[in-house]
Amino acid sequence: MTLRARILGAAAGGGLPQWNCGCDNCKLARSGKIPSQTQSSLAVSADGLSWAVLNASPDIRVQLSDAPSLFPSGLRELPLSSVLVTNGDIDHVAGLLTLREMQAFKLFATAGIHEVLAQNPIFEALNSTVVDRVSIALDQPFELVPGLTATLFPVPGKVPLYLEGETVQTDMIGEQTVGVALQSLDSVAYYIPGCAALTPHLRDRLEGAELLFFDGTLWTDDEMVRAGLSQKTGKRMGHMSMDGPDGSIAAFADIDIARKVFVHMNNTNPVLRPDSDEGARARDAGWTIGQDGMEITL
Ligand code: MLT
Ligand code: MN
Ligand code: ZN
Repeated sequence: MTLRARILGAAAGGGLPQWNCGCDNCKLARSGKIPSQTQSSLAVSADGLSWAVLNASPDIRVQLSDAPSLFPSGLRELPLSSVLVTNGDIDHVAGLLTLREMQAFKLFATAGIHEVLAQNPIFEALNSTVVDRVSIALDQPFELVPGLTATLFPVPGKVPLYLEGETVQTDMIGEQTVGVALQSLDSVAYYIPGCAALTPHLRDRLEGAELLFFDGTLWTDDEMVRAGLSQKTGKRMGHMSMDGPDGSIAAFADIDIARKVFVHMNNTNPVLRPDSDEGARARDAGWTIGQDGMEITL
């Protein structure tokens, strides 16, 4: 075994059901007719003993209490040794507040994302004498957990919603939105929960990967607009949608990746209904629809 990955949360910000949403999927989830999904997070390990959590979702308390591999092994000893955040979005950082209680771990992020956290004094709840905030340069490999080397690389995206100004560039390349390469003894996996476009550079990077977890926010770009839920398209939110000529299913069709898994799905996405035509189309195209608690071992 060289990589164990557990989807702690398969949904995008808001989760399924989202507290204030009455869309069809949210109603089905509330009545137990389709599985509920918590917010965006992945746990990874090389040896099954030491784990990193990629993105700290607002649901991390319940996610950790549902994951036996991550239960405390002693009074204050934990398999969780590090947390990495891929952007400063609320669904990826709010869970850091749950991880207070003077527990030591390493917090990995780019300097740009650490700066966003540093500007928010509430994150001082993670006492800097115990939680080691480590800035990671783009494209520089580092040890995430024993046996697993991670590399952060920029993917097109935008600043967090709460930092948006008058105008917003949604396909910015830099330290604000990153993907993660996970290199173990003999395999490479990628985690990219938010991505506005598949650039040629990114395509080249992902070619030949054993495993990819990728942004599955929306099925169609205007799905929330058409449902009357929001004025925002996926593109405006910095996300590539699954369907259509410029969607992720088409974009990845001729890239050699052994296993492709959608994560970070918005509650409106029809693929979250196990019996939907859209879900069947994604599966026919070689994708797995991520689910809370799903584990993949390489
Ligand atoms: C996103 O992925 O677009 C953000 O998480 C949206 C949000 O902050 O709610
Ligand atoms: Mn998100
Ligand atoms: Zn909904």
